[in-house]
Amino acid sequence: MSQKFDTILKSGTVVNQDGEGVRDIGIAGDRIAAVGSLGSAGAGQIIDCKGLHILPGVIDTQVHFREPGQTHKEDLETGSRSAVMGGVTAVFEMPNTDPLTITEQTFADKVKRGRHRMHGDFAFFIGGTRENVQDLADLERAPGCAGVKVFIGSSTGALLVEDDESLRRIFKVIHRRAAFHAEDEYRLNQRKHLRIEGDPHSHPVWRDEVAALMATQRLVSLAHETGKRIHVLHISTKEEIEFLRDHKDVASCEATPHHLTMAAPECYERLGTRAQMNPPVRDAGHRDGIWRGIEQGIIDVLGSDHAPHTLEEKAKAYPASPSGMTGVQTLVPLMLDHVNAGKLSLARLVDLTSAGPARLFNIAMKGRIAAGYDADFTIVDLKRVETITNKWIASRAGWTPYDGVKVTGWPVGTFVRGRRVMWQGELVTPSTGEPIRFLETLKQ
Ligand code: DOR
Repeated sequence: MSQKFDTILKSGTVVNQDGEGVRDIGIAGDRIAAVGSLGSAGAGQIIDCKGLHILPGVIDTQVHFREPGQTHKEDLETGSRSAVMGGVTAVFEMPNTDPLTITEQTFADKVKRGRHRMHGDFAFFIGGTRENVQDLADLERAPGCAGVKVFIGSSTGALLVEDDESLRRIFKVIHRRAAFHAEDEYRLNQRKHLRIEGDPHSHPVWRDEVAALMATQRLVSLAHETGKRIHVLHISTKEEIEFLRDHKDVASCEATPHHLTMAAPECYERLGTRAQMNPPVRDAGHRDGIWRGIEQGIIDVLGSDHAPHTLEEKAKAYPASPSGMTGVQTLVPLMLDHVNAGKLSLARLVDLTSAGPARLFNIAMKGRIAAGYDADFTIVDLKRVETITNKWIASRAGWTPYDGVKVTGWPVGTFVRGRRVMWQGELVTPSTGEPIRFLETLKQ
């Protein structure tokens, strides 16, 4: 080939729709120009990737980056820095900021804040409420919008639509797949007295598996009734997996690394309120059930649910302690460790972190290593043994529940639209994050 490229990634093991094999990747501008054997083709730079695996850029479909309003915990710059340091090339960010992301203005403000300040590409969810329901059909098509997100059980922030009638109104007006935090608010309220002051072990007792299953069942029934698609975020129970297996026509779902890695009671004994999340981490039976959902193809995507709070906030006595932990930077290393332990194949990981998000959310030009697609790559050393530490975490919150955990498999490079953003643990290129384009938001 006599073509000249800006960059050639030489002799990496490429994992894509074609399987796994040693190939070169030629990059021109933002895009992949060629994949294969590029022989002696010229390039501005040639990067030797021998011995490394090149995955399509990992897309984390659930993060909370806290800007505007709670930037003492995180902001769009620090959250996205944490993402690229961990090999994540693009994120979908959640609307429970302050002010809430529920209007054209608050949405446009976030896109403006993110552009060329975030280190990777980004999309924002628009929060669905009783008040903005009449605007949602327009709002969900704004450039950079990942779709509508609804909390049907309350968590961090003020977003909540708990009743079927209001949910039905939202379902009727929207066209895209909407994402849901599925815990039944009525049941959560009835069971609040089960929280034990100072004891986070009672968190999954209060927010039990029935609350999660009830909410997911209600959403599936509304989706069937209105003919709409739903995405159930952070599945925490084996019962939801079994139920969703029979509703894949309308429902997609997400698993998180913490629900796949931690289990009660051990996590609460060891980490206290640092393990407190909504929906909660439950016992090993649920963790195994979610792994079955990965094995059986029922889970469509992984999201970290990166939800930073400061250590001071987390140190409050339960239940005054906020729910949430960092996760965007540890998603890739933890999941590579699971690959090395034989829990899933590398191909399945790619399906969950790039092809899956692209398929569910109709992402334009991401999710594959193919000519014409954005040159987004997560480059990993499958054999590298590292210890995750708080010091490594670039999030403003500055901590991880996996501090001291040894893993095999490590992200060594992050490419975003042709630019080498992270290499061997260093941030090497200034931020150039752009809104992700979706088939429904192609107008720029
Ligand atoms: O634990 C959680 N924390 N779950 C959520 O749904 C929200 C998140 C947050 O924003 O802190």
